[in-house]
Formats: sequence, C-alpha cells, structure tokens
Amino acid sequence: MNIQWYPGHMTKTRRMIAEQIKNVDAVCEILDARIPLSSRNPDVDELTAGKPRLVVLNRVDQADAEASRRWAAYFREKGYAVLETDAKSGSGTKQFAAAVRTLLADKLRAWAEKGQTGRVVRVMILGIPNVGKSTFINRVAGRKTAKTEDRPGVTRSKQWVPIDRGLELLDTPGILWPKFEDQSVGLNLAFTGAVKDEILDVETLGCHLMAYLADQYPESLRAAYKLAELPARQEENDIAYGYGLLTAAGRKRGFLVSGGEVDTERMAKILLDEFRSGKLGRFTLELPD
Ligand code: G4P
Repeated sequence: MNIQWYPGHMTKTRRMIAEQIKNVDAVCEILDARIPLSSRNPDVDELTAGKPRLVVLNRVDQADAEASRRWAAYFREKGYAVLETDAKSGSGTKQFAAAVRTLLADKLRAWAEKGQTGRVVRVMILGIPNVGKSTFINRVAGRKTAKTEDRPGVTRSKQWVPIDRGLELLDTPGILWPKFEDQSVGLNLAFTGAVKDEILDVETLGCHLMAYLADQYPESLRAAYKLAELPARQEENDIAYGYGLLTAAGRKRGFLVSGGEVDTERMAKILLDEFRSGKLGRFTLELPD
C-alpha cells in the first residue's frame, strides 16, 4: 500500500517553521507514544537547526506502559528532555514549564547575568495532525486556546500562546511529510488516524493491523474478539494472515452478508475504531532497537 499525503498547506507550514525557528529558544516535539518514530518528522533535525529539544510522548494512556518507559530512556539518551503525557486527562502536562526551564538552564542563567530576568522563553510546538497538540497546549495554558487548523482553507496564521511566568508557545499546524520511505511508517500513521481514512483502503489496513496485533499482542486480540485461539501463522504475507483474522473476528461479531459470508470491510472499520479509541487495550506499534 503506497500512502502519500502532502497537501499544499503542509509546504507552507514547513516554510513557516523555517522562518520562525530563529525566534524560539527551544523546540517541543509532540510524538504519539504508540508510534514514537513514525510520528516524528524526518525533517525536524534540519528544520530546527540545533535548538534544544523537548520530546513529549503523548497518548501514554493508549500505549504499552513498558514500551513508553523504554522510549523515554531512548530519547533521554539522545540528549532530549522527555515528558510522558496523557493530554486528555492532563497527566504529566504540569511538568512542562519546569522541564523547559531545566532544558534551558544555561541560557536562563546567562540572561539573568545580563539582567534580563523578565525575558520571555519561547518554545515552538511541532507535531503531526491529531497527535494531541491543541489538547496539550490547552492543558499547559490552563485554558482553551484557538485551535490551529490543519485543514486547508482555514486561516493558519502563526499563533503565540502565552503561558504562566514568562513562557510562550508557538503553535504550528500539524505536518506530515511527502512520502513514507518505509511502508510501516505509513501504516502506523494510518492505524493511529494521523492519515485520513478517505485516502486509504480500510480493509487492507485492517489486515495489516490484525497481523501486527496477532504477532505482538495475541492475548489482547483473542480476548477482544473472543477467539478461542488464533489461527497459526502460516504465511509471511500480512494481508493473507490478517484477512483470516478479520474473517474470524467478523464471524464472532455476526457481521455476515447474504450467503453467510463475513463482511470483512465492516470488521476492518470496527477494528480500526476500537484500536483508536483504546477499547482494544494499550499497544505500542514500534520499539527502540
Ligand atoms: P491536534 O491538535 O494534534 O490535531 O490534536 P487534538 O489536540 O485536536 O487531539 C485529537 C484527539 O485526540 C482529540 O480527541 C483529543 O481529545 C485526543 N487526545 C489528545 N491527547 C490525548 C491523549 O494523551 N490521550 C488520549 N486518549 N486522547 C488524546 P477527539 O476525539 O477529537 O475529541 P474528544 O474526544 O476530546 O472530544
């Protein structure tokens, strides 16, 4: 499956990031804890040109807790400040201001020595569509701020959001990149809903997700769809294996069409909905090396 997604406004956002980077002291990348690498813009190193970086692993409530611990260690080892958050409930977001101050301790000390004690710290927020940027910003700001829209046709002027005690955030629209070199990146973005379903074949996606869950989280899958046991994997091919699983789960749910065939497309839609809403459990779709 070849997923490509790069509306024109994302090119504009990229330009805006490149222009604004000189006006910020640090960059905060909001990542999806379920897919920390796939949700990371491969251009970000180049775009953010050596600025101190804070990585926020958001949606930890939906991710595998042990995997999130490993990812946090992975990013810390690379020299980033790391926060683990669930922006929906607010868990972890209160530590944001302190984490920024720790990250910029040397700079703040240098400002203080020059007498610039009231100087405002500016942080650019980056993240793919739907990762939870506006929910996170609202939490950190302690109020509802205007959402920076990802949709074409909606004004997307740059937006500074003042936070308590001399901290300002620059909100940016969510961006994806022109091409997913690695198919699994495109799939991960599609499973989690970062790439719109309209441009995807839902059944194919459902097959891939079924195969992944059966390989990595067989017990959760078995329990969710009341499958006595999962069929043995005889094929390398995810589509064939996943299709068998979609059929088995769809039959259990009673999704039949005339002639007694299983409506696998309906089952695929349900699978994706249940995966995204967290109803199936907590999963991480990629692990550090
Ligand atoms: P964006 O700005 O990056 O595009 O994302 P946004 O904040 O709009 O969040 C997209 C959806 O993800 C929202 O759900 C939001 O509540 C949810 N969300 C954000 N962060 C988290 C998190 O850490 N955990 C969980 N479980 N969900 C999160 P929605 O369905 O669009 O709205 P609603 O359910 O809040 O009404």
